Amino acid sequence: MIKLNYKNTDEMVIGKENGLNIQQEFANYKDTIAQIITDLNKRKDKPEQWLQWMNLGYNEETIWYVKEFASMVKGKFENILVLGIGGSALGGIAVTEALLKPYWNLLTPEQRNGNPRIFFLDNIDPDSITGLLSILDLKKTLVNVITKSGSTAETMSQFMIVKDKLEKELGADYRKNIVATTDKKTGILRQISEQEGYKTFVVPDDVGGRFSVFSAVGLLPFALVGLDIDEIINGIKDMDLALKNTDINENIAAQNALIHYLMDTKKGKNLSVMMPYSSRLKYVSDWYVQLWAESLGKNKDKNGNDVHIGPTPIKALGATDQHSQIQLYNEGPNDKVINFIRVAEFDKTLEIPHIFEYTGIGYLGGKTINQLINAEADSTRVALSDYNRPTITITLDRVDGYNVAQLLYMLEVQTAIAGELYNINTFNQPGVEQAKNYTYALMGRAGYEESAMALQEKMATV
Ligand code: PA5
Repeated sequence: MIKLNYKNTDEMVIGKENGLNIQQEFANYKDTIAQIITDLNKRKDKPEQWLQWMNLGYNEETIWYVKEFASMVKGKFENILVLGIGGSALGGIAVTEALLKPYWNLLTPEQRNGNPRIFFLDNIDPDSITGLLSILDLKKTLVNVITKSGSTAETMSQFMIVKDKLEKELGADYRKNIVATTDKKTGILRQISEQEGYKTFVVPDDVGGRFSVFSAVGLLPFALVGLDIDEIINGIKDMDLALKNTDINENIAAQNALIHYLMDTKKGKNLSVMMPYSSRLKYVSDWYVQLWAESLGKNKDKNGNDVHIGPTPIKALGATDQHSQIQLYNEGPNDKVINFIRVAEFDKTLEIPHIFEYTGIGYLGGKTINQLINAEADSTRVALSDYNRPTITITLDRVDGYNVAQLLYMLEVQTAIAGELYNINTFNQPGVEQAKNYTYALMGRAGYEESAMALQEKMATV
C-alpha cells in the first residue's frame, strides 16, 4: 500500500505558527471524518450524487468489454489517437506516461511487444494538430474520441477534422478506425455514433470527467496499449477497502484532506503543490491540478452562502523544479503545503561511473542516480522544514499499475473528503460550463444567439 508521511506538517517540527497539532486535530475531527466517510459510502449508489466513480473498480462488465475490444483489435493498428480534453484526457495521459516504458512512441514494435503507439490531442493548437496528423498514418490509427457531454467544442472540432481525413483516406471503411466514449444516451457524439455505426463505450452516469479515469475513459486506452487492467483494478479495490475505514488514524485520504483543509483555513496556506520525484509521474500532477481545482474552487457553499473558496493546486517535478521553484517555496510567502511523491524502488538502477575521480564531481562516481534522486527529495524536505514549511510525503513502493491506481484513487477520495470539509459541491463545475457556453455562442451554435449578442457587447468593453 502507498504510504503518507505528514510529520512535517506538525507544530513539533515546523513550529506553532505554521504547523498543526496533528494528534489533537485528528481527535477533534474524528467524528466529523467518520461521518463524512460513512455518508460518502452510503450516498455512492444513489443517483445524482456523482459518486459512481467510487464503484468503478467493481464494474466487471465494462472491464470485460474493454479487454474484449482490445483483444479484438490487437495487431490491427500501429497508433491509438485519443481526442479529448480535461477529465477526458488528463487521467489517460497521467497513467500511460507512468506505466508505459519511457519514450514509448519512439520504441520499435518489438520493444512495445507489438502494442501500438499512443497520442493524445488535448488542445486545439492548429500547428500541433496539423503536425501530428502529418506524421500519423490514419489508415493504421484507431481514433478514440472521448467526451462525456458529446459536444465539447475542442474535442468535437478535432474529431470533425480527423473523421473527414479518415473518410477521405479510407473510403467507406473508415468507421472501423473510430471508437467513441461518451454518455450512454445523450449528447451529439452519441447521436452521431448511432447514425454512423461507430463502436462505442460509455462514460457512466454520475461520474464527472475528472473522476472518470477508471471508467472506459481511461481503461480503454490503457487496454489498447497493452497495460495490465487487472493490476490497475486490484490497486483501486485495495485502496477503496482501506479508505472505507472511518478512523482518521487509519485513513490516509482523510488525513491528507484534513491537513490541507486546516492548513488553508487555520494557517492561511491555500496553495497545494504536487511534486513527484519521478519523471514517469510528472503528469499525475496535471491530473491532480484539475481534480483539486475544479472540485474545490467554488463560489457558494452547500447552504448557498458566498464563500469563494478553494486551495490552488500547483504542479512541480522533482528534482527538476528544485532549480526553478524551490527558492520561492523556501523563502517566499509561507502559504503552501508541498506534497512530495517518492518512489522507493525504480525499475532500473543506474550507476554513475567512477570517472573524473580527482575532481570536485568525483564523489558521485559509484553512487546511483536512484540514490541521487531520493537524496534530493530528502534534502529538499529537510530544507523546507528548516524554513518551517509544511510538507507531506507520499511513498509508492514502485511505479506500477497497482501503486499508480492506488495513488489516483486515494487522491480522488481525498478530494471528495476535502469537499465535504469545505461544505461545497465537489462534483459540479459551473465555472467551466460558463466559458464553454460563451465559446458556443462565439462560434455560432444554435440556441446561443442571445448569449452571443450579450458577449459581443461585453467584449467591446472587457
Ligand atoms: O472534469 C470535467 O468535468 C471537465 O474537465 C471535463 O472533463 C471537460 O470539460 C471535458 O468535457 P467532456 O468530457 O464533456 O468533453
